[in-house]
Amino acid sequence: MNAPLQIWHPFTNRALDPAPLRVRKAEGVYLYTDDGRRLIDAISSWWVNLHGHGHPAIVEAIAAQAAKVDHVLLAGFTHPAAEELAARLRAFLPAPLTHIFFSDDGSTAVEVALKMAVQYWKNTGRPEKKEIVALDHAYHGDTAGAMSVGAESDFTEGFRSMLFPVHRVHSAYCFRCPVGNTRAECDIDCTGKLRHLLEEKHGQIAAVIVEPLLQGAGGMIVHPVEFLQRVRRLCSEYGVLLIADEVLTGFGRCGKMFACEIAGVVPDLLCLSKGLTGGVLPMGATICTTEIQEAFAGPGRTFYHGHSYTGNPIAAAAGAASLGIFESEPVFERIGTIAEIHRQRLDAIRNHPAVGDVRSIGTMAAVELRASDPGYSSRLRPILYRFFLDAGVLLRPLGNIIYILPPYVITSEELHSVHDCVTDALRVCLG
Ligand SMILES: Cc1ncc(COP(=O)(O)O)c(C=O)c1O
Repeated sequence: MNAPLQIWHPFTNRALDPAPLRVRKAEGVYLYTDDGRRLIDAISSWWVNLHGHGHPAIVEAIAAQAAKVDHVLLAGFTHPAAEELAARLRAFLPAPLTHIFFSDDGSTAVEVALKMAVQYWKNTGRPEKKEIVALDHAYHGDTAGAMSVGAESDFTEGFRSMLFPVHRVHSAYCFRCPVGNTRAECDIDCTGKLRHLLEEKHGQIAAVIVEPLLQGAGGMIVHPVEFLQRVRRLCSEYGVLLIADEVLTGFGRCGKMFACEIAGVVPDLLCLSKGLTGGVLPMGATICTTEIQEAFAGPGRTFYHGHSYTGNPIAAAAGAASLGIFESEPVFERIGTIAEIHRQRLDAIRNHPAVGDVRSIGTMAAVELRASDPGYSSRLRPILYRFFLDAGVLLRPLGNIIYILPPYVITSEELHSVHDCVTDALRVCLG
């Protein structure tokens, strides 16, 4: 008999990492494992889950849709589920963003945006505008194009030969200000590098891609809103498209439906995934302006990109149901409560000797620990991960950066217990 087919787990080294925990049930904010544990999912299962696991409205929508149209290709066909999702999403989007292109996940949403940006300029008679600008500390996914615009890291090191070159400019990482300013002196001078680049090379540049207000995997770096506003202004001034990767920040994570909304910024291309289906089924989407879409109409202008499961009806039904929950339940009140607890609890540990910086935005709270080996590979990561699991909380520190990003249905009591656990970790692990 053949050996059993083993599951190869992402970002996991079989020889170094502990065996995976087997989850047999997920309900609300809890994961129940085979070995009898109940864990608080304090990172929303990789930042996807919005309304708690197993929300009945989403479960019912999925079952009902599966019985109607399970899947059909989206080229040459359409279906009510995709249309309903688009219609519901429309209500939350700024007026200029009028066309949605579906894909499978966050990485493909980014790939689509990059390809659309480059082909937009080709289709409008400016084929030389094909280069991309990205930020330091960026993370946009693990496919080759998405990795190219991501910052160099352990994640990309082995694949450098496969990646296309991009222009790299400063991120507004205020704790480690790239231009050496203090907050008091700050005039968003970190955008100076982008300004110079655009002054010199705007004729070759197709787009700037950013994670608006919050860079996630690069270290939960919160930007001042003025940074995003300045980037938008520079893109407009120099005739370069702005791609907002809201794969993480979308659907209320930062306090409003979209992070761009907080800054009053409208991107030319918007990438969505993760919370798009409430965090239940994979789906990506890239949303663009009428001007961009119009450039793809007519002979020789087709956008040749698509995936087998593009616009999957069951995922779309989950997405429509999730957006329905924003209307039927006090989702933004919950988000506000989470944000307030985050602020209070971070304030209380701000001056702890182990803490370098605390930052929060909306439902995300992060603690950057002082470490002799900062970064994703910090020796603190496995120690803290294990500590939190033993305490019944799923938190996956990004090296020396602990962050909390819970489903919105977490109660105040549960959230305080997660923060208690983070405070304990400062004491127990770091003295
Ligand atoms: C900002 C951002 N963009 C893109 C991605 C990639 O999404 P996915 O893992 O669904 O491919 C992620 C994933 O964490 C992300 O945080």
